[in-house]
Amino acid sequence: MFVDELPDMPRLRGYGVAEDGELVAGNLTIGMYETMWKFHRDLPATRVFAYGPSKEAATVPGPTVEAMQGVPTYVTWTNHLPPRHFLAWDRTLTAATPGRGVPAVVHLHGGVQHSASDGHSLAWFTAGFAATGPHFSSPAYEYPNQQPPGNLWYHDHAMGLTRVNILAGLLGAYRVASPAEEAALNLPSGEAFDRNLVLFDRDFCADGSLFMNRTGNNPTVHPQWQPEYFGPVVVANGKAWPYLRVRRRRYRFRILNASNARFFRLSLSGSLRFVHVASDSVYLAKPVATRAFLLAPSEIADVVVDFAESGGDTALLRSDAPAPYPGDPGEKAETVPVLKFLIDKDATEPDPSSLPASLMAQYPKPDASEAKLTRRVAMYEYTKEGTDEPTHLYLNARSYMEPVTETPTEGTSELWDVINLTDDNHPLHLHLALFAALEQRSLLHVDEFKDCMMRRGDADACGLERHLAGGRRHVVPRQERGWKNVFKVRPGTVTRLLVRFRPLSPPDSRRFPFDVTAGPGYVYHCHVRKLALTMHLHLLFSSLINQ
Ligand code: C2O
Repeated sequence: MFVDELPDMPRLRGYGVAEDGELVAGNLTIGMYETMWKFHRDLPATRVFAYGPSKEAATVPGPTVEAMQGVPTYVTWTNHLPPRHFLAWDRTLTAATPGRGVPAVVHLHGGVQHSASDGHSLAWFTAGFAATGPHFSSPAYEYPNQQPPGNLWYHDHAMGLTRVNILAGLLGAYRVASPAEEAALNLPSGEAFDRNLVLFDRDFCADGSLFMNRTGNNPTVHPQWQPEYFGPVVVANGKAWPYLRVRRRRYRFRILNASNARFFRLSLSGSLRFVHVASDSVYLAKPVATRAFLLAPSEIADVVVDFAESGGDTALLRSDAPAPYPGDPGEKAETVPVLKFLIDKDATEPDPSSLPASLMAQYPKPDASEAKLTRRVAMYEYTKEGTDEPTHLYLNARSYMEPVTETPTEGTSELWDVINLTDDNHPLHLHLALFAALEQRSLLHVDEFKDCMMRRGDADACGLERHLAGGRRHVVPRQERGWKNVFKVRPGTVTRLLVRFRPLSPPDSRRFPFDVTAGPGYVYHCHVRKLALTMHLHLLFSSLINQ
């Protein structure tokens, strides 16, 4: 542990600068390549799939794209992947194209973009377009970046193999900056003090290759499909347990959990703490200090750490979240290190940054009274008794491949009551829309309610209100009370989300800068890369992705 230095991934500028200094649209080509990557000094290089401007420049994670608010970034995504996947890609799942390459498609997570550029899971394509998914139109995507400044990420999103493509390395960070709005915050800035931290877990064989179990849970039906993946090695910016030399001053870390299924509960050793300034893709209204916080797959925490507060010369970033993450969050697991900070001895480091008392107070506060309607979304898991059938995940008893289920109206807000009847905590992600978690309550007598829902499918008829009365209320952590795009939906609970189908900030807060009703629509899904619980919104939202 702690023999490799934490790298900063190469940055790609997603905008151009005209001769007169004006910012103009950026044009990037980012390819997907099979290449080798060194995860650790003492481990032989590992075969990976990686994003990069060229094969030689491809990295795991991929380059960090720096976009500018209001300036579009055009990215042409190119697939140079070999005919065969080096990981177990279960061909009984959808998107199988024997001999015609590895399907891939890129979704910009947290991005507000036309659905034709949203990386629909059925818009995949293989090298040379030898095969394409039913929603494929073009690999040239437009990201308008007409959205608040914040942290996004891009990752593979192909139906049936998101799980293996992300595990192979197809993921990267994307920032939207608004210098005018952010300069006033005076947070730690510049490449040295404002860093992306992309975390995921992996398992390796002694020869350096990635280890992934090749035998499925239900091998007679899906010979290789495994619902979850956990590895004992924590990788930060592509290095296993790295170290970072820091000075005694404030740093900003934009921390992404890019694991397939592992939750991190992060804390710092010694007296250090986190001050959260943003979560998922949007700044908070005010900073929130924590000693520890939970980060589910695909969540982002944007925090400031002040190493001047450290009494020692080193500090550990570590996690004690169990894997798999249990229904009862009281359970703790062994603490595992993530990253070691080596703190400079010099205590006289000047620090021009500061922590403002308020961040983006101008964003609308979540207000349930603006909701036009209430939708119910029940998550179910079915296993057919006495068969080898694997667990199927459904939303409102419908599977992903069924037609669009939700058709919200642009410009409105809605309440979504998400009823989790499964045994797992699902990090629920919505594309396009932002939402705020208003409350989360446990159902009394979950099993009785679940039985009734399986039979009748009608929450009112099954006495939802009665089952909620007296149910425990779970506190939404303060750093998660702003606008988000992922929320951890605990098992046996009803979570109320205020979903906003209109932009949060410029240019015109009523309309998206494109026609949201055209194209294949958007999805919402659990971000544990297991089974498809993805539904489409048309503005299409429907069932679980991620096979
Ligand atoms: Cu992070 Cu539909 O994805």
